[in-house]
Amino acid sequence: MIYLDNAATTMRKPEAVTQAVVQALSSMGNSGRGVHGAALDASRVIYETRVRLARLFHAPDPARVVFTANATQSLNIAIKGTIGPGDHVITTALEHNSVLRPLYELQAQGARLTILPADSLGRIDYADMEAAVRPDTRAIVCTHGSNLTGNMIDLHRVGAIARAHGLLLIADASQTAGVMDVDVQAMNIGILCFTGHKGLLGPQGTGGMVVAPGVQVRPLLTGGSGVMSYSRTHPQQMPTALEAGTLNGHGIAGLGAAVQFILNTGTQAIRDHERALMRAFYEGARAIEGVRIYGDFEAQERCAIVSINVRDYDSAEVADALQAQYGVAVRPGAHCAPLMHEALGTAAQGAVRFSFSYYNTMDDVHAALAALRELAAEE
Ligand code: ALA
Repeated sequence: MIYLDNAATTMRKPEAVTQAVVQALSSMGNSGRGVHGAALDASRVIYETRVRLARLFHAPDPARVVFTANATQSLNIAIKGTIGPGDHVITTALEHNSVLRPLYELQAQGARLTILPADSLGRIDYADMEAAVRPDTRAIVCTHGSNLTGNMIDLHRVGAIARAHGLLLIADASQTAGVMDVDVQAMNIGILCFTGHKGLLGPQGTGGMVVAPGVQVRPLLTGGSGVMSYSRTHPQQMPTALEAGTLNGHGIAGLGAAVQFILNTGTQAIRDHERALMRAFYEGARAIEGVRIYGDFEAQERCAIVSINVRDYDSAEVADALQAQYGVAVRPGAHCAPLMHEALGTAAQGAVRFSFSYYNTMDDVHAALAALRELAAEE
């Protein structure tokens, strides 16, 4: 299989990730729930993973790196834990349903929502964002990179707007963490939400948030914490405040190994490789008659995603043919990004998304292009 669905999940992981998970599965106790060696080992591995993530994201305090099951859970905690019925929130048409649906729920409870439109290339206008700020605006919630077009939002610019108006910036780094530079301090990110299984190259079921000092988040869940068991309320100290219940220690062990691999390799090297693949695929695809490509390819920085359609063929049929006839795995359909599809005019057709990772090769690109050429030539 030529796996080009890395924006959904990176299938190939560093060898050290597998080793770390296997080792944890046979040796890890429950972090914070005992004083024997296996429990202390779990605490050490989990804490070390917090330290590595803090280093990767330039966060000042590893204790404010919180583990969750995925970015959806992180975004729900961040959004519902900080925004109330009287608040106004600014978001964008680039967002995934993991941002939009929690915001729609809050809107139904009385919060007010401004969704910045995207143009036909899937770009927002930063002047619109600044102009949308009102006296009751509490937060900006936005993605760092669109999972459909690969377009990025400049979080330095958004962070500056948030700083100028005293707003909380909640950033969704699902498509960028581990590949793009994310500096929570320089970008003024109040809560960074990430998943572990995409660019961070870790196992599924891992994710988290980095909460800036001073940002208070109401927990969605309360319960077991391993400490202060006689208190009727959940402990407020971070990260325990947002981590009720036993953590996915086995997955976090794998994530820790993955982040160490990224720190050793360097995001620049990872990015350069992915960018070369994405560019080569883009150049090849745009030369094929009948192929339409979505997104902004003039931008200085973008994710390694190329979404296309072939004539007016249903995107699911194209993806099926790519898989069945050529063994090329891609994602078709709506990608949980309804507003982005509306902006691109692809709500009915969907789009066929090719997404690249550090482990793809130029041979993969050439094989995918050859398959696409043949499909596009079929009547
Ligand atoms: N959100 C993931 C994607 O874009 C699953 O495919």
